[in-house]
Amino acid sequence: MRAITVRDRDAGVRGMTLTDLPHPHAAENDVIVRVHAAGFTPGELSWPATWTDRAGRDRTPSVPGHELSGVVTELGYGTTGLSVGQRVFGLADWTRDGALADHVAVEARNLAPLPADIDHVTAAALPVSGLTAWQGLFDHGRLTAGRTVLIHGAAGGVGSLAVQLAREAGARVIGTGRAADRTTALDLGAHAFVDLQADRLEDAGPVDVVLDVIGGDILDRSAALVRPGGTLVTISRPVTVPPDGARAVFFVVEPDRAQLTALATRVRTGRLTPLIGSVHPLPDTAAAFAPGTRTPGKTVIRVAEEAG
Ligand SMILES: NC(=O)c1ccc[n+]([C@@H]2O[C@H](COP(=O)([O-])OP(=O)(O)OC[C@H]3O[C@@H](n4cnc5c(N)ncnc54)[C@H](OP(=O)(O)O)[C@@H]3O)[C@@H](O)[C@H]2O)c1
Repeated sequence: MRAITVRDRDAGVRGMTLTDLPHPHAAENDVIVRVHAAGFTPGELSWPATWTDRAGRDRTPSVPGHELSGVVTELGYGTTGLSVGQRVFGLADWTRDGALADHVAVEARNLAPLPADIDHVTAAALPVSGLTAWQGLFDHGRLTAGRTVLIHGAAGGVGSLAVQLAREAGARVIGTGRAADRTTALDLGAHAFVDLQADRLEDAGPVDVVLDVIGGDILDRSAALVRPGGTLVTISRPVTVPPDGARAVFFVVEPDRAQLTALATRVRTGRLTPLIGSVHPLPDTAAAFAPGTRTPGKTVIRVAEEAG
């Protein structure tokens, strides 16, 4: 099968090569998915799981891209809950080969059924960003109606979905980003916007929850914005400047079938729209993610056309 592989940790996105690999093996509780569309996070190339398995053994050449949408073609021994021919979407395991390939082996529990009226490109833009936004706001941030949340990077992959989910949940939403992101963030439902280059971030507080996707100095300065009893949530790195009287949480997104289903329901009913920046065929993956070529919104790789 065709697959995009990486072998050299120092080569970055330039090292992504179209390769011929054997068809994957369906282990116990796995499904094999014929991939129709896949997503890739450039940060993956710095994660240990891209290069080694759970025992720390080298697993190169490895296939990156850990969010996918496609159709189940095989079931492993003991796999229940999904069936051959079913449309599915979700996360591929971090320490196994990913979805920038014609086929991928995934634990069935990491996937959810994909409703017939959501196309594969839209579905592939949801798992990492959508689950991260959901878990950051609700599981870790404990956001509820009437609370105020400040969402950094509000026009980005995670932030754009977080703004829509928080607004729908009845929160007051403050988005942040660059000047060019203001209109996008407000159109998605943010009540207010902070231009991180021109406005004073410190004037945006106090808030009940901060969802940070940027890290660095922005994360450190965000601690002072959180009210006592609130939560500073980040996906960028562990918090080194803790907020006063408030919780701080750094987390890595986890697979969750129920949350994927909740995201799909919102997409079907027009309450949630992933921002898709560009769509490219599998052989163009390295060019699609080359530094300097990024378009705003999610870059999705289309691996196969859907029949019918
Ligand atoms: N821990 C986890 O589980 C997890 C899960 C998902 C993602 N992540 C990581 O989280 C990060 C964000 O992911 P994403 O998909 O949302 O990325 P993204 O689509 O690039 O969104 C980030 C947004 O923040 C903006 N931004 C970044 N730095 C900024 C700054 N200094 N000032 C103003 N705006 C700034 C970006 O604007 P520009 O594009 O103009 O810079 C972009 O709009 C990535 O590093 C990703 O690897 C972690």
